[in-house]
Amino acid sequence: MTEMAIEATGLTRSFGDLKAVDSLDLQIPKGCIYGFLGPNGSGKSTSIRLLTGLLNPDSGEINVLGLKLPAQAEALRRRIGYMTQKFPSMVISPWRKTCVSWRKSMACMAAMKNSVWPPSWSFTN
Ligand SMILES: Nc1ncnc2c1ncn2[C@@H]1O[C@H](COP(=O)(O)OP(=O)(O)OP(=O)(O)O)[C@@H](O)[C@H]1O
Ligand SMILES: [Mg+2]
Repeated sequence: MTEMAIEATGLTRSFGDLKAVDSLDLQIPKGCIYGFLGPNGSGKSTSIRLLTGLLNPDSGEINVLGLKLPAQAEALRRRIGYMTQKFPSMVISPWRKTCVSWRKSMACMAAMKNSVWPPSWSFTN
């Protein structure tokens, strides 16, 4: 039987009257590269936040790497990496209008995750 990395059943999350994710079912096997494609506002980021334990669902079951969410979200966070859509430009470089490079953004996330701060490179070049 194929082992699943991510399993979700009936995943649902609303913000006020807006249902951002509606009864999402997912089965993603281990070793698989998987992406969400869809129009702006269709719920991709909300789904990822639910599947990484950053946001709690209103209803539904989530199991990632054998851990049940949201109960085991803290344990899951130690085993996964997640880069938000807007974080790099907003937090690293609030005084610049452009994003820093992806290499620097990745290095920044790695430095924070491993509590190595500041990173060895400069923001100014
Ligand atoms: N924290 C929040 N509070 C209120 N509404 C939210 C919140 N997060 C997302 N939404 C709303 O939920 C819907 C889905 O948003 P989401 O960010 O998941 O979409 P997306 O598919 O990632 O869009 P994009 O392609 O623009 O990144 C949108 O209507 C959005 O405005
Ligand atoms: Mg998004």
